[in-house]
Amino acid sequence: MRILVTGGAGYIGAITIERLLRAEHQVIALDSLVTGHRESVADGAELVVGSFGDGPLVTNLLRDRGIDAVLHCGARSLVGESVTDPALYYRENVIGGVGLLDAMRTAGVHRLVFSSTAAVYGVPNETPIREDAANVPINPYGATKLAFEEAMRWYGAAYGLCAFSLRYFNVAGASPSRGERHDPETHLIPNLLAAYRGGPPLTVFGTDYPTPDGTAVRDYIHVLDLAEAHLAALQATATMEPGLEVCNLGSGSGFSVKDVMRAAESVVGSPVPHSLGSRRAGDPPILVASNERAAERLGWRPALGSLEEMIGSAWDLVRGSTAESGTSAAALPSEHALPEH
Ligand SMILES: NC(=O)c1ccc[n+]([C@@H]2O[C@H](COP(=O)([O-])OP(=O)(O)OC[C@H]3O[C@@H](n4cnc5c(N)ncnc54)[C@H](O)[C@@H]3O)[C@@H](O)[C@H]2O)c1
Repeated sequence: MRILVTGGAGYIGAITIERLLRAEHQVIALDSLVTGHRESVADGAELVVGSFGDGPLVTNLLRDRGIDAVLHCGARSLVGESVTDPALYYRENVIGGVGLLDAMRTAGVHRLVFSSTAAVYGVPNETPIREDAANVPINPYGATKLAFEEAMRWYGAAYGLCAFSLRYFNVAGASPSRGERHDPETHLIPNLLAAYRGGPPLTVFGTDYPTPDGTAVRDYIHVLDLAEAHLAALQATATMEPGLEVCNLGSGSGFSVKDVMRAAESVVGSPVPHSLGSRRAGDPPILVASNERAAERLGWRPALGSLEEMIGSAWDLVRGSTAESGTSAAALPSEHALPEH
């Protein structure tokens, strides 16, 4: 397959590209580099710097490179920023996204896999969360992801788009050569590892949740498992009926913040430097995926579901890059101890 990966210079896009190249697909990364990194794109893939919302650019790219399918990982994805600047999120994630859909129509490309999020569910009534749970996002980030899903659904009905929306829970871990590099970093595991490396201590937001140890429970999925699911979904778009299929991608297991800290302690060998804080507004107590549909529809099951594997892979990478550069690794701010999406 010839695959266009938007956001291919970001954390998830770049690691998925490694997997697509190993499966001998041809890959073009399209990335504006607004949060991504040029050097994250593997050597075997071409990087085009630009926006997925740039209709003429994308139409020409799809046509000139004979693209078969698009993996749409590019997005703005900071929950807090989406609350203070919703215009940016609607412009990029929705208007830009519809620009991508229209370029695909113009170029006659009908296969699409989309990076969606558990944030479309908001604060769910039941756990584990199934795909037919109500969609009530509580921030513009989740709302814009949902709006794009709806656009995909209607484009399927009217124009023959064959699309998968993959709703990720908390993505974690690294490949041997690429990991998470967000700035600001809002995710628990990289912030916890930064605390070990001399960054600010981790703040645990909320110790009085109605959970077994009082800290919030989340579902973590290894980024390498995610890459496998992307590959399976891209393949499935070749044979599906036009329309939208939605699958959660999570491990199906819930881990509390304290569970994650204990696993980190066993990987690193010492306790996580941390302090205890109060709850943040809008953080639900428990978010765990049902991943049955992904198993049925894509034949996908997570293979790397342990916290030790996720934390260990990320720790190996940051230690390796620190040793290579010969400097002490830059500490990232660890102000957010709960995953945001
Ligand atoms: N990391 C997670 O835990 C998580 C969870 C749920 C969903 N997601 C979704 O997965 C996707 C990838 O997330 P990530 O963690 O790799 O984020 P990331 O910020 O590392 O990657 C996003 C990439 O998109 C690029 N980009 C942004 N706007 C663009 C535009 N208009 N045109 C072209 N490129 C653009 C950025 O430069 C960046 O390289 C996002 O859509 C995000 O919403 C991530």
